[in-house]
Formats: sequence, structure tokens, C-alpha cells
Amino acid sequence: MRRSVIAGTGSALPARCVTNAQLAEQVDTSDEWIVERTGIRQRHIADASETTATLATEAAKKALAAAGVPADKIGLIVLATATPDQTFPATATKVQTALGINDCIAFDVAAVCTGFLYALSVADNMVKGGMADYALVIGAETFSRLLDWEDRATCVLFGDGAGALVLKAEDTEDSGILATRLHADGRHNELLYVDGGPSTTGTVGKLRMKGKEVFRHAVVNLADVLNEVLAATGHQPHEIDWVVPHQANKRILDATAKKLGLAPEKVVVTVDQHANTSAASVPLALDTAVRDGRIKKGDLIVMEAMGGGFTWGAAIARY
Ligand code: UT7
Repeated sequence: MRRSVIAGTGSALPARCVTNAQLAEQVDTSDEWIVERTGIRQRHIADASETTATLATEAAKKALAAAGVPADKIGLIVLATATPDQTFPATATKVQTALGINDCIAFDVAAVCTGFLYALSVADNMVKGGMADYALVIGAETFSRLLDWEDRATCVLFGDGAGALVLKAEDTEDSGILATRLHADGRHNELLYVDGGPSTTGTVGKLRMKGKEVFRHAVVNLADVLNEVLAATGHQPHEIDWVVPHQANKRILDATAKKLGLAPEKVVVTVDQHANTSAASVPLALDTAVRDGRIKKGDLIVMEAMGGGFTWGAAIARY
């Protein structure tokens, strides 16, 4: 059976790292509040020379190197972001050019924090369908540009970064992406949104969130969609080697693992280091756990995310 296998991963972070204590000098907050409520200890913030495209390109180069795949083999780039360099052209085409690829399919997907799961699912299906033999799937964000630095309830939660993986078509029964499931429910638009856009205010806008209500939905939706990908493949929770979740809040990670009966040691946690990097968070966490040797060839992994829309989704893969 033709499947997409994960051939390599990569990630990139802005040079500047901002600790909770540094943030508390500008905003009425404290390291203690942020750590206790979210698990976040620091985040990376892009400077003017670092953009979604530059971070995405660096992550993509590392993923290509790890996969041993030359850039000119890539037939498809799907880039998930809510913070493109420009409204158009798609940031994927900027990455394409920076990688020296003159002809391939390249486009962005917008599903906010679930963006990487949407991008992975789209790319997987296009690879399985024969439209490309090698694909780059990227999640990249500069969410700091959307933050209202006067709103302590949101500005402490997010960071910038990028993660990428190379998918390769292979004939295999039990490796690579085994199943993906995606959802959206637009009735919850007003719980997490940006108050601007090209077709409404003509401005970029700032992020607005009713955090408590998002939290409540997140645990239920994430547990449900993880059960869906398990059911789709016939796997049981105890067979999972690693959960690679969207990194929004350590309490959401703990509550979701508990709901599924998963040991907390099997959950990859990077929210303490990166905060919530939206579409970049799952591939950033994946690359971190691959590079530090936790995730090994043959491991059964599940990835999940939930965000604005609401959108939510999950994937199960044999790494
Ligand atoms: O990636 C997309 C998905 N997003 C999420 O998953 C986010 C989900 N939500 C959350 O992670 C949590 O709801 C938050 C971390 C955003 C907030 O935690 P909470 O336990 O729900 O706190 P809260 O919003 O109920 O606020 C509790 C108190 C409030 O004060 P009062 O009204 O009780 O006096 C806030 O004003 O904490 C106050 N507060 C802060 N204090 C210090 C809010 N932000 C801060 C802050 N520093 N940064």
C-alpha cells in the first residue's frame, strides 16, 4: 500500500528568548502565575529580520538534511500558518524559492493551532493519491505580531517558531501516516479570533481569547479525536509510544492524557520552552523528541491539536 512515511524532521526558533520574569517587567504578571496556570517558562520572539518564511525555511532545510532528500525532489509544500509574511502570495511559495525549487505544488493552509494537522492530512492524501513522491509539511508562525501586549491574559501564552517534516511515498503496510481525522465547528468563532483582516478592518488585528471556555472544549475535543484515530487503525491507547500534542497549556496536556488513560511520561512536553506556537507547536515538539532520542524508528506516535474556529484534529503514525 502506498503510504507517506516521515523521512526527516526539522525546526527553527527565533534567536531572542524571553523568560516569564522578563515579561513581568513589561506586563502585570508573574513567573509564578504563568508557570502554575500554563506550565510556560519562556518563549522565543522574532525580531524584524525573522519572519514566518525565514523560520519555515530554516526548519525545512533541517528536515531535508535529516531525511537526506535534496530539495529538488520535493513535489509538494504545504505550509500551515495564521501569520503569513503577506496576505498573498502564500508563504509556501517564499519557502519554495528560498529552497531553490522552481516548480512544485506550494500553498498555505489556515486552521490556526490545528493548522499542522490539516496540512499533514492534506499532504498525506496528496502523496497517497500520487500527486507527489516527496512533500514538505511545515507549521510556522510569528504569533507575537498578533499579540496585544496590553492584554496579560493572552500575551504571556504565545511564542514564535517553525517545525517541518519531509514525507516520502513508500510501499508499506504499517509505517508512516496511518490515519488522520479533522474537525471544525465555526459556532465557536468568537471564543478565539483576531479582530482584524483584509476583508473587514483592512488591518492585521490582535488576538482575542476567552481562555477558560477554550480550555473546557479542548480537553473533550482532543480526547475524542485521539480515540477516532485509534479506532480507525484498531490500536489501543496502551500501544502508543508517544503523544505529540499541541502545546497550549500543560494542564490541557495532563487532563487529555488522564482522560485517555495514558501515562504522563509518554507525552512530549515543550510548552515550558516554547509556549504556544500555534501551527508550529506539534512539528516543533516532534522534532525536539526525535533529536533528543525519545522518538525512535518504529515508534507508534499520535499527534493532536485544537484551536481557533474551533478546529481540531489528530494523526497516528508509525515513525
Ligand atoms: O492554542 C489554542 C488553544 N488555546 C488554549 O488552549 C488556551 C486555553 N486556556 C487556557 O490555557 C487558560 O484558560 C488560561 C491559561 C488562558 C487562563 O487560565 P485560567 O485558569 O482559565 O485563568 P482565568 O482566565 O480564569 O484567570 C484567573 C485570574 C483572573 O483574575 P481574577 O478575575 O480571578 O481576579 C485573571 O485576571 O488570573 C488573572 N490573570 C492573570 N494574572 C497574572 C489572567 N492573566 C494573568 C496573567 N498574570 N498573565
